[in-house]
Amino acid sequence: MLHVAGHEVRTVLAPMEGVSHPPFRALMAARGGLDLVCTEFVRISPAPLSPKMLRESVALCDGPDGQPLPLSVQVMGNDAAKMAEAAGLVAAAGAAVVDVNMGCPMPRVVRKGVGAAMLKDPALLRDVLGQMREQVPGLLSAKIRAGFDDADNVVRIATVVQEAGADFIAVHPRRRCDFYEGVADWRIIATLTRELRIPVIGNGDVWYAADALRMERETGCAAVMIGRPAMRNPWIFQQVADLRAGREPFAPAGEDVAAWLHEVAADYARIFHRKRGPLGKLKELVRWIGRAVDDEGTFRRAGLRAATVDELMHLVDGLAEFPAERIDLGAHGHLAFERSGSARLEALAQSA
Ligand SMILES: Cc1cc2nc3c(=O)[nH]c(=O)nc-3n(C[C@H](O)[C@H](O)[C@H](O)COP(=O)(O)O)c2cc1C
Repeated sequence: MLHVAGHEVRTVLAPMEGVSHPPFRALMAARGGLDLVCTEFVRISPAPLSPKMLRESVALCDGPDGQPLPLSVQVMGNDAAKMAEAAGLVAAAGAAVVDVNMGCPMPRVVRKGVGAAMLKDPALLRDVLGQMREQVPGLLSAKIRAGFDDADNVVRIATVVQEAGADFIAVHPRRRCDFYEGVADWRIIATLTRELRIPVIGNGDVWYAADALRMERETGCAAVMIGRPAMRNPWIFQQVADLRAGREPFAPAGEDVAAWLHEVAADYARIFHRKRGPLGKLKELVRWIGRAVDDEGTFRRAGLRAATVDELMHLVDGLAEFPAERIDLGAHGHLAFERSGSARLEALAQSA
Protein backbone atom coordinates (compact mmCIF):
# COMPACT_ATOMS: atom_id res chain seq x y z
CA MET A 1 0.00 0.00 0.00
CA LEU A 2 1.13 3.51 -0.71
CA HIS A 3 0.26 6.32 1.69
CA VAL A 4 0.92 9.96 0.94
CA ALA A 5 -0.02 12.74 3.37
CA GLY A 6 -2.14 10.29 5.36
CA HIS A 7 -4.18 9.07 2.38
CA GLU A 8 -4.00 5.82 0.49
CA VAL A 9 -2.87 6.43 -3.08
CA ARG A 10 -4.19 4.14 -5.81
CA THR A 11 -4.42 6.43 -8.84
CA VAL A 12 -1.82 8.94 -9.98
CA LEU A 13 -1.81 11.53 -12.77
CA ALA A 14 1.52 11.06 -14.58
CA PRO A 15 4.06 13.82 -15.05
CA MET A 16 3.87 15.07 -18.65
CA GLU A 17 6.01 17.94 -19.88
CA GLY A 18 3.89 20.58 -21.61
CA VAL A 19 0.70 18.82 -20.50
CA SER A 20 0.64 18.40 -16.69
CA HIS A 21 0.80 22.16 -16.13
CA PRO A 22 -1.18 23.69 -13.24
CA PRO A 23 -4.43 24.36 -15.19
CA PHE A 24 -4.60 20.79 -16.56
CA ARG A 25 -3.78 19.35 -13.13
CA ALA A 26 -6.50 21.49 -11.54
CA LEU A 27 -9.11 20.43 -14.11
CA MET A 28 -8.25 16.75 -13.66
CA ALA A 29 -8.10 16.94 -9.85
CA ALA A 30 -11.48 18.64 -9.63
CA ARG A 31 -13.11 15.75 -11.51
CA GLY A 32 -12.37 13.25 -8.76
CA GLY A 33 -10.99 9.72 -8.56
CA LEU A 34 -7.41 11.00 -8.41
CA ASP A 35 -5.21 10.47 -5.33
CA LEU A 36 -1.85 12.00 -6.28
CA VAL A 37 -0.97 14.62 -8.88
CA CYS A 38 2.47 14.92 -10.50
CA THR A 39 4.01 18.02 -12.03
CA GLU A 40 5.89 18.02 -15.32
CA PHE A 41 9.64 17.88 -14.74
CA VAL A 42 11.56 20.87 -13.44
CA ARG A 43 15.03 20.89 -15.00
CA ILE A 44 17.81 21.30 -12.44
CA SER A 45 20.97 22.29 -14.30
CA PRO A 46 24.37 22.89 -12.69
CA ALA A 47 23.64 26.66 -12.93
CA PRO A 48 22.49 28.46 -9.75
CA LEU A 49 18.98 27.49 -8.68
CA SER A 50 16.02 29.81 -8.82
CA PRO A 51 14.30 29.35 -5.44
CA LYS A 52 11.35 31.44 -6.70
CA MET A 53 10.80 29.17 -9.71
CA LEU A 54 11.10 26.07 -7.52
CA ARG A 55 8.62 27.41 -4.98
CA GLU A 56 6.22 28.28 -7.81
CA SER A 57 6.41 24.71 -9.13
CA VAL A 58 4.55 23.65 -5.98
CA ALA A 59 1.11 24.72 -7.25
CA LEU A 60 -1.43 22.65 -5.36
CA CYS A 61 -4.86 21.86 -6.75
CA ASP A 62 -8.08 20.85 -5.07
CA GLY A 63 -10.06 17.66 -5.31
CA PRO A 64 -13.86 17.75 -5.73
CA ASP A 65 -14.28 18.23 -1.96
CA GLY A 66 -12.27 21.47 -2.09
CA GLN A 67 -9.35 19.92 -0.21
CA PRO A 68 -5.89 20.11 -1.84
CA LEU A 69 -4.62 16.86 -3.30
CA PRO A 70 -1.06 15.79 -2.49
CA LEU A 71 1.41 16.96 -5.10
CA SER A 72 4.52 15.21 -6.37
CA VAL A 73 7.03 17.63 -7.86
CA GLN A 74 9.40 16.04 -10.33
CA VAL A 75 12.96 17.26 -10.72
CA MET A 76 15.37 16.24 -13.45
CA GLY A 77 19.14 16.58 -13.30
CA ASN A 78 22.35 14.75 -12.43
CA ASP A 79 24.23 17.22 -10.27
CA ALA A 80 23.71 15.59 -6.88
CA ALA A 81 24.32 18.71 -4.77
CA LYS A 82 21.99 20.85 -6.90
CA MET A 83 19.31 18.16 -6.97
CA ALA A 84 19.50 17.87 -3.18
CA GLU A 85 19.22 21.64 -2.74
CA ALA A 86 16.27 21.78 -5.14
CA ALA A 87 14.59 18.85 -3.42
CA GLY A 88 14.90 20.55 -0.04
CA LEU A 89 13.34 23.73 -1.44
CA VAL A 90 10.32 22.06 -3.06
CA ALA A 91 9.73 19.86 0.01
CA ALA A 92 9.78 22.96 2.23
CA ALA A 93 7.37 24.71 -0.17
CA GLY A 94 4.74 22.00 0.38
CA ALA A 95 5.38 19.18 -2.10
CA ALA A 96 4.19 15.94 -0.49
CA VAL A 97 6.61 14.00 -2.71
CA VAL A 98 9.83 14.92 -4.50
CA ASP A 99 10.29 12.67 -7.53
CA VAL A 100 13.34 12.19 -9.74
CA ASN A 101 12.98 11.81 -13.49
CA MET A 102 14.95 8.78 -14.66
CA GLY A 103 12.89 8.04 -17.71
CA CYS A 104 12.76 10.96 -20.13
CA PRO A 105 13.86 9.51 -23.51
CA MET A 106 14.25 12.74 -25.48
CA PRO A 107 17.61 13.14 -27.29
CA ARG A 108 18.07 16.70 -25.99
CA VAL A 109 17.72 15.30 -22.46
CA VAL A 110 19.77 12.09 -22.63
CA ARG A 111 22.58 13.95 -24.43
CA LYS A 112 23.03 15.89 -21.20
CA GLY A 113 23.24 12.65 -19.18
CA VAL A 114 19.89 13.18 -17.41
CA GLY A 115 16.45 11.54 -17.60
CA ALA A 116 16.69 7.98 -18.94
CA ALA A 117 20.48 8.34 -19.38
CA MET A 118 20.80 7.98 -15.60
CA LEU A 119 19.63 4.37 -15.90
CA LYS A 120 23.05 3.59 -17.37
CA ASP A 121 24.87 4.81 -14.26
CA PRO A 122 23.72 3.18 -11.00
CA ALA A 123 26.51 4.84 -9.01
CA LEU A 124 25.36 8.30 -10.11
CA LEU A 125 21.78 7.38 -9.41
CA ARG A 126 22.70 6.25 -5.90
CA ASP A 127 24.65 9.47 -5.26
CA VAL A 128 21.87 11.78 -6.52
CA LEU A 129 19.12 10.02 -4.58
CA GLY A 130 21.30 9.61 -1.49
CA GLN A 131 22.08 13.34 -1.29
CA MET A 132 18.44 14.22 -1.98
CA ARG A 133 17.35 11.86 0.81
CA GLU A 134 19.26 13.96 3.31
CA GLN A 135 17.34 17.11 2.31
CA VAL A 136 13.83 15.65 2.02
CA PRO A 137 12.08 14.99 5.32
CA GLY A 138 8.97 13.76 3.51
CA LEU A 139 8.56 11.33 0.67
CA LEU A 140 11.16 10.78 -2.05
CA SER A 141 10.51 8.73 -5.19
CA ALA A 142 11.96 7.96 -8.61
CA LYS A 143 10.28 7.33 -11.92
CA ILE A 144 12.18 4.91 -14.11
CA ARG A 145 11.90 3.15 -17.44
CA ALA A 146 12.73 -0.53 -17.88
CA GLY A 147 16.23 0.35 -19.04
CA PHE A 148 18.12 2.29 -21.69
CA ASP A 149 18.78 -0.19 -24.51
CA ASP A 150 17.61 -3.34 -22.74
CA ALA A 151 15.62 -4.26 -19.66
CA ASP A 152 18.21 -6.66 -18.21
CA ASN A 153 19.18 -4.42 -15.29
CA VAL A 154 15.77 -3.20 -14.21
CA VAL A 155 15.79 -5.05 -10.89
CA ARG A 156 19.32 -3.84 -10.15
CA ILE A 157 18.40 -0.23 -10.95
CA ALA A 158 15.22 -0.37 -8.90
CA THR A 159 17.12 -1.94 -6.00
CA VAL A 160 19.63 0.92 -6.09
CA VAL A 161 16.71 3.37 -5.96
CA GLN A 162 15.34 1.52 -2.93
CA GLU A 163 18.70 1.25 -1.15
CA ALA A 164 19.39 4.96 -1.71
CA GLY A 165 16.35 5.70 0.44
CA ALA A 166 13.46 6.26 -1.96
CA ASP A 167 10.07 5.65 -0.36
CA PHE A 168 8.50 4.32 -3.55
CA ILE A 169 9.16 3.93 -7.25
CA ALA A 170 7.13 4.36 -10.43
CA VAL A 171 7.95 2.32 -13.51
CA HIS A 172 7.01 2.84 -17.14
CA PRO A 173 8.13 -0.53 -18.46
CA ARG A 174 9.42 0.52 -21.85
CA ARG A 175 13.10 0.95 -22.64
CA ARG A 176 14.47 4.34 -23.58
CA CYS A 177 14.99 3.11 -27.15
CA ASP A 178 11.25 2.31 -27.39
CA PHE A 179 10.26 5.95 -26.75
CA TYR A 180 6.44 5.41 -26.74
CA GLU A 181 6.35 2.53 -29.28
CA GLY A 182 6.17 -1.19 -28.69
CA VAL A 183 4.80 -2.74 -25.55
CA ALA A 184 4.68 -1.41 -22.01
CA ASP A 185 5.59 -4.79 -20.53
CA TRP A 186 3.53 -5.04 -17.38
CA ARG A 187 5.43 -8.24 -16.40
CA ILE A 188 8.30 -5.92 -15.42
CA ILE A 189 5.99 -4.14 -12.97
CA ALA A 190 5.10 -7.54 -11.49
CA THR A 191 8.79 -8.43 -11.16
CA LEU A 192 9.59 -5.20 -9.32
CA THR A 193 6.58 -5.60 -7.05
CA ARG A 194 7.92 -9.02 -6.11
CA GLU A 195 11.55 -8.02 -5.70
CA LEU A 196 11.29 -4.69 -3.85
CA ARG A 197 10.26 -3.81 -0.32
CA ILE A 198 9.04 -0.33 -1.29
CA PRO A 199 5.67 0.20 -3.07
CA VAL A 200 5.71 0.13 -6.86
CA ILE A 201 3.49 2.35 -9.02
CA GLY A 202 2.68 0.77 -12.37
CA ASN A 203 2.44 2.95 -15.48
CA GLY A 204 1.97 2.53 -19.22
CA ASP A 205 -0.87 1.90 -21.62
CA VAL A 206 -3.73 1.88 -19.12
CA TRP A 207 -6.13 3.02 -21.84
CA TYR A 208 -9.41 2.03 -20.21
CA ALA A 209 -10.52 2.21 -16.58
CA ALA A 210 -10.86 -1.58 -16.51
CA ASP A 211 -7.16 -1.81 -17.48
CA ALA A 212 -6.22 -0.11 -14.21
CA LEU A 213 -7.85 -2.91 -12.23
CA ARG A 214 -6.31 -5.45 -14.57
CA MET A 215 -2.84 -3.96 -14.04
CA GLU A 216 -3.29 -4.14 -10.26
CA ARG A 217 -4.49 -7.72 -10.49
CA GLU A 218 -1.75 -8.88 -12.83
CA THR A 219 1.18 -7.02 -11.25
CA GLY A 220 0.28 -6.46 -7.60
CA CYS A 221 1.29 -2.79 -7.97
CA ALA A 222 0.34 -0.43 -5.14
CA ALA A 223 -1.07 2.25 -7.46
CA VAL A 224 -1.67 2.93 -11.14
CA MET A 225 -0.24 6.00 -12.88
CA ILE A 226 -2.04 7.29 -15.98
CA GLY A 227 -0.69 9.81 -18.48
CA ARG A 228 -1.74 9.96 -22.15
CA PRO A 229 -4.97 8.04 -21.48
CA ALA A 230 -6.06 10.91 -19.20
CA MET A 231 -5.72 13.35 -22.12
CA ARG A 232 -7.79 10.96 -24.21
CA ASN A 233 -10.36 10.28 -21.49
CA PRO A 234 -10.70 12.88 -18.72
CA TRP A 235 -13.30 10.63 -17.03
CA ILE A 236 -10.85 7.75 -16.58
CA PHE A 237 -9.98 8.39 -12.91
CA GLN A 238 -13.63 8.66 -11.93
CA GLN A 239 -14.36 5.49 -13.87
CA VAL A 240 -11.59 3.63 -12.03
CA ALA A 241 -13.03 4.81 -8.70
CA ASP A 242 -16.51 3.70 -9.81
CA LEU A 243 -15.31 0.26 -10.83
CA ARG A 244 -13.54 -0.17 -7.50
CA ALA A 245 -16.67 0.86 -5.61
CA GLY A 246 -18.90 -1.42 -7.68
CA ARG A 247 -20.72 1.54 -9.25
CA GLU A 248 -21.68 1.72 -12.92
CA PRO A 249 -19.08 4.04 -14.51
CA PHE A 250 -20.19 7.00 -16.59
CA ALA A 251 -19.99 6.38 -20.35
CA PRO A 252 -19.46 9.76 -22.07
CA ALA A 253 -21.26 10.61 -25.30
CA GLY A 254 -20.09 13.15 -27.88
CA GLU A 255 -21.97 15.98 -26.17
CA ASP A 256 -20.05 15.27 -22.93
CA VAL A 257 -16.75 15.41 -24.81
CA ALA A 258 -17.80 18.69 -26.44
CA ALA A 259 -18.79 20.16 -23.06
CA TRP A 260 -15.44 19.11 -21.55
CA LEU A 261 -13.46 20.68 -24.38
CA HIS A 262 -15.48 23.90 -24.01
CA GLU A 263 -14.71 23.89 -20.28
CA VAL A 264 -11.00 23.46 -20.99
CA ALA A 265 -11.07 26.12 -23.74
CA ALA A 266 -12.69 28.67 -21.42
CA ASP A 267 -10.18 27.90 -18.68
CA TYR A 268 -7.14 27.97 -20.95
CA ALA A 269 -8.31 31.18 -22.66
CA ARG A 270 -8.23 32.86 -19.26
CA ILE A 271 -4.85 31.42 -18.29
CA PHE A 272 -2.90 31.20 -21.54
CA HIS A 273 -4.07 34.50 -23.02
CA ARG A 274 -0.51 35.73 -23.35
CA LYS A 275 2.15 34.17 -25.57
CA ARG A 276 0.59 32.11 -28.32
CA GLY A 277 -2.75 31.49 -26.64
CA PRO A 278 -4.39 28.15 -25.91
CA LEU A 279 -4.75 26.77 -29.47
CA GLY A 280 -1.73 24.44 -29.34
CA LYS A 281 -2.65 23.10 -25.92
CA LEU A 282 -6.24 22.46 -27.01
CA LYS A 283 -5.05 20.69 -30.13
CA GLU A 284 -2.89 18.39 -27.97
CA LEU A 285 -6.08 17.26 -26.22
CA VAL A 286 -8.00 17.00 -29.50
CA ARG A 287 -5.21 14.83 -30.91
CA TRP A 288 -5.85 12.32 -28.11
CA ILE A 289 -9.58 12.62 -27.56
CA GLY A 290 -10.11 12.43 -31.34
CA ARG A 291 -8.77 8.87 -31.21
CA ALA A 292 -11.85 7.86 -29.26
CA VAL A 293 -14.35 9.14 -31.84
CA ASP A 294 -15.74 6.51 -34.20
CA ASP A 295 -15.47 8.62 -37.37
CA GLU A 296 -12.32 7.23 -39.03
CA GLY A 297 -10.25 10.13 -37.73
CA THR A 298 -12.27 12.90 -39.43
CA PHE A 299 -12.73 15.09 -36.34
CA ARG A 300 -9.15 14.56 -35.23
CA ARG A 301 -7.61 15.51 -38.58
CA ALA A 302 -9.86 18.55 -39.05
CA GLY A 303 -9.18 19.65 -35.47
CA LEU A 304 -5.43 19.52 -35.97
CA ARG A 305 -5.77 21.73 -39.07
CA ALA A 306 -7.87 24.39 -37.31
CA ALA A 307 -6.26 27.81 -37.52
CA THR A 308 -8.11 29.44 -34.63
CA VAL A 309 -9.75 28.44 -31.35
CA ASP A 310 -13.15 29.45 -32.78
CA GLU A 311 -12.67 27.18 -35.76
CA LEU A 312 -11.63 24.33 -33.47
CA MET A 313 -14.59 24.81 -31.14
CA HIS A 314 -16.97 24.85 -34.09
CA LEU A 315 -15.67 21.39 -35.01
CA VAL A 316 -15.98 20.33 -31.36
CA ASP A 317 -19.68 21.25 -31.47
CA GLY A 318 -20.11 18.67 -34.22
CA LEU A 319 -19.27 15.93 -31.71
CA ALA A 320 -22.67 16.39 -30.05
CA GLU A 321 -24.28 14.10 -32.61
CA PHE A 322 -22.21 11.07 -31.50
CA PRO A 323 -23.96 8.73 -29.04
CA ALA A 324 -21.89 7.01 -26.32
CA GLU A 325 -21.79 3.86 -28.45
CA ARG A 326 -19.65 5.73 -30.98
CA ILE A 327 -17.30 7.26 -28.42
CA ASP A 328 -14.68 4.81 -27.15
CA LEU A 329 -14.54 6.24 -23.65
CA GLY A 330 -16.50 3.57 -21.80
CA ALA A 331 -14.76 2.01 -18.80
CA HIS A 332 -14.32 -1.31 -20.59
CA GLY A 333 -13.37 -0.01 -24.03
CA HIS A 334 -16.44 -1.17 -25.95
CA LEU A 335 -14.91 -0.14 -29.30
CA ALA A 336 -11.42 -1.38 -28.33
CA PHE A 337 -9.62 1.32 -30.32
CA GLU A 338 -6.63 1.10 -27.94
CA ARG A 339 -4.70 -1.82 -26.44
CA SER A 340 -3.48 -2.07 -22.87
CA GLY A 341 -0.01 -3.42 -22.00
CA SER A 342 -1.29 -6.96 -21.41
CA ALA A 343 -3.52 -6.98 -24.49
CA ARG A 344 -0.53 -5.97 -26.64
CA LEU A 345 1.55 -8.78 -25.20
CA GLU A 346 -1.27 -11.27 -25.86
CA ALA A 347 -1.59 -10.05 -29.46
CA LEU A 348 2.16 -10.44 -29.94
CA ALA A 349 2.10 -13.97 -28.50
CA GLN A 350 -0.77 -14.96 -30.82
CA SER A 351 0.93 -13.60 -33.91
CA ALA A 352 4.23 -15.39 -33.08
C1 LIG B 1 3.82 14.65 -23.72
C2 LIG B 1 4.47 13.80 -22.67
C3 LIG B 1 5.30 14.39 -21.74
C4 LIG B 1 5.91 13.61 -20.75
N1 LIG B 1 6.68 14.24 -19.80
C5 LIG B 1 7.18 13.50 -18.77
C6 LIG B 1 7.87 14.13 -17.67
O1 LIG B 1 7.99 15.37 -17.60
N2 LIG B 1 8.36 13.31 -16.70
C7 LIG B 1 8.21 11.94 -16.72
O2 LIG B 1 8.68 11.24 -15.81
N3 LIG B 1 7.54 11.33 -17.72
C8 LIG B 1 7.02 12.07 -18.71
N4 LIG B 1 6.28 11.46 -19.69
C9 LIG B 1 6.02 10.00 -19.60
C10 LIG B 1 4.68 9.74 -18.87
O3 LIG B 1 4.75 10.17 -17.53
C11 LIG B 1 4.35 8.23 -18.88
O4 LIG B 1 5.39 7.52 -18.25
C12 LIG B 1 4.18 7.67 -20.29
O5 LIG B 1 3.39 8.53 -21.09
C13 LIG B 1 3.52 6.27 -20.25
O6 LIG B 1 2.31 6.31 -19.56
P1 LIG B 1 0.87 6.41 -20.31
O7 LIG B 1 0.76 5.21 -21.21
O8 LIG B 1 -0.10 6.39 -19.18
O9 LIG B 1 0.89 7.68 -21.08
C14 LIG B 1 5.69 12.21 -20.70
C15 LIG B 1 4.85 11.62 -21.66
C16 LIG B 1 4.25 12.39 -22.63
C17 LIG B 1 3.33 11.71 -23.63
